[in-house]
Amino acid sequence: MKVDPFLVEQFMNAFEKKAELNLAETCVDPFTLGDFLDFVGQCRFFDSIKKMKLTYGEIEGSPALRQGLADLYEHMKPQNILISGGAIAANFLVFYSLVEPCDTVISIFPAYQQLQSVAKSFGANVKLLPLHESNGWLPNIKELDNLVDKRTKLIVINNPHNPTGSLIESDSLTEICEIAERNGAYLLSDESYRGLWVTPTDSVPSAVDISDSAIATGSFSKPFSLSGLRLGWIAANQRIVRQCMLHRDYTTISNNMISDALATLAVKHADLIFNRSLRIIRANHEIVSRWVDDEPRIRWIPPKAGSSGFLRYNMNISSKKLCLQLLKEKSVLLVPGYCFGMEGYLRIGYGCGTRTLKAGLSEFKDFLNSMR
Ligand SMILES: Cc1ncc(COP(=O)(O)O)c(C=O)c1O
Repeated sequence: MKVDPFLVEQFMNAFEKKAELNLAETCVDPFTLGDFLDFVGQCRFFDSIKKMKLTYGEIEGSPALRQGLADLYEHMKPQNILISGGAIAANFLVFYSLVEPCDTVISIFPAYQQLQSVAKSFGANVKLLPLHESNGWLPNIKELDNLVDKRTKLIVINNPHNPTGSLIESDSLTEICEIAERNGAYLLSDESYRGLWVTPTDSVPSAVDISDSAIATGSFSKPFSLSGLRLGWIAANQRIVRQCMLHRDYTTISNNMISDALATLAVKHADLIFNRSLRIIRANHEIVSRWVDDEPRIRWIPPKAGSSGFLRYNMNISSKKLCLQLLKEKSVLLVPGYCFGMEGYLRIGYGCGTRTLKAGLSEFKDFLNSMR
């Protein structure tokens, strides 16, 4: 089966280990295992799981983990949650379970490419819903309505949005849900960055708490800072969860038991961990904002949520060349816009440690000055 190369993943695989100052990553400063256990007051955790028999474990994810994740929503119960190998496997499973050849799938653009390419590889007619900088990188609801046709099976959004950090607010999200419902389609809302609100008063409900037609996917990599667990989840009504489970049997018997136990600890301390993540992204957002204000050839629409922003540069050089030159000369990594199909832009991840961010931005400034 043919599938388009996943450009952002290919770029990260090739270059992320080569940079001393990685400003390309979107995970919020990952914990070391020791720091995580200290942070949640569980230094003796590994003693406590020594008697764990390494079986396949709980097939759909442990009850405690599913309960802890259900508690992150207003209307979800453990049976509405299915654990997966990261949000990437959760998204894949939704496409694999629901999309058939000749279905129409409407997906936002630019976006994490998985949200467009997997449905295309399954033979769907993928229509792109463009997000415009002039509209704060938000979808135009009318444009979405016009794209819907009789064969529309799935509408795909990512809220908060990677790479721009835009946030679809409650009212618009409700309108998107209504379009899906009216047309008998599902809405897949990739909510990997949910909870990372830059402004403390902001908070947007999950699409699954608005509509029965919605499916939300989530991640332990971003606000939980535990990407190494490689866990994520699907939250949806039970019919959809059963449909996903039917398909998941062919790809995943169960997930890693040790990761499940660590993730269960994490959801028990979700508030504490989210507060740490919020401290990091809010401080770092301010640093990048000041830096951008001071940099005549760079501008951005300040992200409202998540851990990444899309920098627009005003220079006559391709995004790939710029990033590779920056990496070579300054050991700083950014993601070139071409990985999102958008020349003239760079993705910056500002969830990293503040020292790394400051050092990376300072090197980037020197680099830009040397190009004048
Ligand atoms: C929008 C989006 N969805 C899914 C993923 C995959 O996340 P995970 O590490 O949970 O597989 C990413 C990773 O960057 C992402 O940005």
